[in-house]
Amino acid sequence: MRIGVLTGGGDCPGLNAVIRAVVQRAIKGHEWEVCGIRHGWRGLLVDEIEALDLSKVSGILPRGGTILGTSRTNPFKENDGPARIRAALVDHRIDALVAIGGEDTLGTASKLAQDGLPVVGVPKTIDNDVNGTDVTFGFDTALAIATEAIDRLHTTAESHDRVMVVEVMGRHAGWIALESGIAGGADLTLLPEFPLAFGELTGMVRRRHDRGKSFSIIVVAEGARLADETDEAPHVASGKKDAFGHARLGGIGATVAERLEEETGFETRYTILGHIQRGGSPTAFDRVLASRFGIAAVDLVAAKGFGRMVGIRGTQIVNVPLAEAVGKLKTVGPELYQMARVFFS
Ligand code: F6P
Repeated sequence: MRIGVLTGGGDCPGLNAVIRAVVQRAIKGHEWEVCGIRHGWRGLLVDEIEALDLSKVSGILPRGGTILGTSRTNPFKENDGPARIRAALVDHRIDALVAIGGEDTLGTASKLAQDGLPVVGVPKTIDNDVNGTDVTFGFDTALAIATEAIDRLHTTAESHDRVMVVEVMGRHAGWIALESGIAGGADLTLLPEFPLAFGELTGMVRRRHDRGKSFSIIVVAEGARLADETDEAPHVASGKKDAFGHARLGGIGATVAERLEEETGFETRYTILGHIQRGGSPTAFDRVLASRFGIAAVDLVAAKGFGRMVGIRGTQIVNVPLAEAVGKLKTVGPELYQMARVFFS
């Protein structure tokens, strides 16, 4: 038996820990061979496939990024994409595929599985927005980085009597903003799920300053918008879209900071954390979760659980149909948001 493993979409701390676990479990637990497919689905289209053995994954556990490389290639947008993928699997005698990715990579895996391809999924994203799992690996690391950044911005805000606006990642779901806002003691958090009117936002900051506070911290998710903005995604850094139709987001932090200073007169600065949240070594939590997911994915292949994705519910590793996992995104619900609002201003 020979399996292939690929990483698609944005990089994410913990990808190498999954790859290592897949290789170790497949070779030591099942005596299978493993092939690494480079740059996500693209590797199957352009024949970038290499053998992976224990020595190739030695020492990669704490490393950020992915030794396989990644891309946002969408095989359904390429000429004969799905047929070429099938042919590549036959050519390389790959019996099953482990696809590690977020909504787009897993959405592709789900469609290919419906066409009969033997594929299982592993959910990855710092955004934590994949359904069918309580949490994705990468999120804990991003949260720790964002929280540390907020702590650091706090000292400048306090020393200079400033409002500091911190823009964090989160395209459709505000998990990083919500949790780093709580953990970092933010005075206001703006999520894609719950737009606030600009007047509400200035009102909250003013109330806090009326109470004698001379600084404030505001966390905004990149995908958030103000309630008075009618456009669905008004804050794009670039009009160019990727192969899955996503524009590059960015700019809400600047908009909030500029409007706030103009309206209230409070000196305001903004910081965009950007890809810093995705880079570097995973936390211990993410290393453990990623390792458990990698092992579970190989065992799922052994059980012929194709068309399914591994996940975690509470402390238990589970698996769910890929179609269910990619049907809709896991967003922040009203209950959690109301809890976070207790700390606003
Ligand atoms: O999906 C993860 C994510 O980090 C999003 O939060 C963000 O919008 C996107 O990736 C950025 O992607 P890229 O690295 O391609 O600019």
